[in-house]
Amino acid sequence: MSAGPALSISHLSVKFGGLTALDDVFLEIAPNTIVGLIGPNGAGKTTIFNAISGLVTPASGAIAIHGKEMKWPASHDLAGLGISRTLQGVGLFSGLSVIENVMMGANHSSGTNFFRDLLGLSGRAEAKLRRRASDALAWAGALDLAEKMPGELTYPESKRVSIARALVSQPEILLLDEPAAGLGQDDIDKFASLLKQLKQRCAIVIVEHHVDFIGAISDQVYVLNFGKVISSGSFDTVKRDPAVLAAYLGTSQQTGSEKLGGAHA
Ligand SMILES: Nc1ncnc2c1ncn2[C@@H]1O[C@H](COP(=O)(O)OP(=O)(O)OP(=O)(O)O)[C@@H](O)[C@H]1O
Ligand SMILES: [Mg+2]
Repeated sequence: MSAGPALSISHLSVKFGGLTALDDVFLEIAPNTIVGLIGPNGAGKTTIFNAISGLVTPASGAIAIHGKEMKWPASHDLAGLGISRTLQGVGLFSGLSVIENVMMGANHSSGTNFFRDLLGLSGRAEAKLRRRASDALAWAGALDLAEKMPGELTYPESKRVSIARALVSQPEILLLDEPAAGLGQDDIDKFASLLKQLKQRCAIVIVEHHVDFIGAISDQVYVLNFGKVISSGSFDTVKRDPAVLAAYLGTSQQTGSEKLGGAHA
């Protein structure tokens, strides 16, 4: 693998009509690190993932993968570029078993073609894909769920399956949008150790509202507010940044410092 960042973004701006959702955003993700992306609701976190994954067209900005500048990817380019993402929420196909859902992840770019391709797969190719899906489920600690249907899963289980689906394409860059949302503390702790193992395999960018969790796992944190990066660095640095405390103030009864875990630091 080449030296330099796995992914870097500079001067990224995204507009929705009159709304500037992202304004001159920069982001750098070193290989085998976890980068946390935090910020209040509507700050633009998901929009960054949407720009990287071809779901919105940037008004301006540049993206480089392993130091190589390229056009903003279309969604069907992602697998080839080694990028995989989970969607905010769970998003499993209810009519497919867990292992089939995970197998979908190998080819999510081609959508419904997958079914045709799957039918057309040779027995050997299908067996190979099934093995990769099992491997991804094992990594996500969900191998025992392989033959279940999504409707039978608990919420934390379904979160694990959606991670497995993102892993099956063996990405070098994994984008996770609120993977811990709705999980209890026990599951969050297990998930944190899973991510720390996973970063041996790939770089991870994670959007989360659980700031303690972000603090525990991230090598680097970016804080977004109103479409701008207002702070970046280690979690310990950003949580003391007055701009960050101000951004988190007024969003609830808690002080910005409490929301950022400062009360426990
Ligand atoms: N497709 C879209 N069309 C119009 N406006 C959009 C679109 N997607 C996002 N926005 C707006 O852009 C801004 C940033 O939204 P985004 O979803 O990126 O925020 P977020 O940081 O992910 O928030 P949350 O924490 O609530 O998920 C918001 O004002 C949102 O309403
Ligand atoms: Mg979002």
